[in-house]
Amino acid sequence: MGYVGIDVGTSGVKIVYIERAGRISHQVTKEYPLYHPEQGWSEQHPEDWWEATSEGFKELLTLISPDAIKGIGLSGQMHGLVVLDENGDVLTPAILWNDQRTYEECSFLNDEIGKEFLTQHTGNIALTGFTAPKILWLKKNKPEIFEKARYMMLPKDYIGYKLTGSMFTDVSDASGTLYFDVKNRTWSKEMLEILGIRKEMLPTVYESFEIAGTVNEIASVKIGVPVGVRVVAGAGDNAAGAVGSGIIREGTSLVSLGTSGVVYSPKKSFSVDKNNSLHTFCDASGKWHVMGVMLSAASSLKWWVEDVNQSDYDTLLREAENTKAGSKGLYFLPYLSGERTPHHDPYAKGTFVGLNSSHSRGDMTRAILEGVAFALNDSVQILKKLNISFEQAMVIGGGTKSPLWMQILADVFHVQIITHSNTGGPALGAAILAAVGDGAYPSIQIACEQLDITNHVYMPIEHHAIIYKKMFPVYQNIYSSLRDVFEDIYLVEDSL
Ligand code: XUL
Repeated sequence: MGYVGIDVGTSGVKIVYIERAGRISHQVTKEYPLYHPEQGWSEQHPEDWWEATSEGFKELLTLISPDAIKGIGLSGQMHGLVVLDENGDVLTPAILWNDQRTYEECSFLNDEIGKEFLTQHTGNIALTGFTAPKILWLKKNKPEIFEKARYMMLPKDYIGYKLTGSMFTDVSDASGTLYFDVKNRTWSKEMLEILGIRKEMLPTVYESFEIAGTVNEIASVKIGVPVGVRVVAGAGDNAAGAVGSGIIREGTSLVSLGTSGVVYSPKKSFSVDKNNSLHTFCDASGKWHVMGVMLSAASSLKWWVEDVNQSDYDTLLREAENTKAGSKGLYFLPYLSGERTPHHDPYAKGTFVGLNSSHSRGDMTRAILEGVAFALNDSVQILKKLNISFEQAMVIGGGTKSPLWMQILADVFHVQIITHSNTGGPALGAAILAAVGDGAYPSIQIACEQLDITNHVYMPIEHHAIIYKKMFPVYQNIYSSLRDVFEDIYLVEDSL
């Protein structure tokens, strides 16, 4: 008997099955498309998530008996706006976490409603990826859809709804909406008023490990899981990834190197830094966490390998391994979809700076790995300024497949980097939450003690660390010097 964790990611859904907290017995993934109908827009079809999830279950159930599933936990990409009509049908494509269309709505919220008000009621300020500005955008730009909207929810909660027929979310995912009172772990009445939505339109909020529903008849017929299997509320992907990595104590840190790049630190009490430099969200274990998020982490490498070079990872990463730390003075800004932490700038662009005729493709690939590490280091430096310890970091996500990239992180952050022996990430965390909710473990802490975690430890190479320490201020200066140029590029493009 065991538990299933589902992670509704940006590139696909991952479903894992565990018999005990530390070990994944089976794992399946199913991909779905991502759409960019306009410059800066990022959308998916919620129906694709559900189809992929049911395909995934069909495959999983060729490996285990349906009766072996005691509970299901959910995790997923945060912030996405899913809008349903009165019959529970999807009204419009989901607007995702890395969509940049809401610049004006964010200016309204931050400047007219005011950052102080937002911080007081939600613990955060408005950023283009968050859900509240998306609701304002919908209201203004698609009033006919806003009028018909009866329910609004986050990506993993749509899957929870399809599994159980109930509408529920959890505190960690709700934290990324900007209409959730993170301190008091409840929807913010004041923000709902500003957005012009009613509480009845939103899912019921649970702690991540609480049982929020059971698999219903319709879902059972579609996915093959028996009626009545318990479903826990789950967590946003980063909070779930933290559970799956045992990062739930203050003083520990997680880096996620997936499509997005995240630096994450648990906090035992609620507090917000005065510049709102990091997000302050609820975690999955009844406490809080802070995090910095970059928008194009492993997706920068994907763009370079698959789209630009139409090649494979082994070839390009081997070429990068044969180059030297510092890529012969070449820098890459990974702002391919604008940037969130630290710049909060939807107009930021990706760029190579410092090219000369001696640079090879290997140098360019290495500059991308280093550029992503520098971008994450921006968040690490903010943590340090806030006196949040960052002595070592556990890293999860697709980027961990590259030992070179892990070494670069150790060298740029100048700390020990640990990779995880289980690649389940957020899906593993979601399965653990299901096990805790079902009573298999008395607490998340105790479940996490069962995790057999360390796969590999990367120690900083001192002479590389010295090189990166010199390069980092130059890297930071490139964005400051180009910020206005990026805006000009946007304005010209917009006028064409
Ligand atoms: C977190 C964020 C991303 C998405 C990606 O704030 O936007 O990490 O959750 O899945």
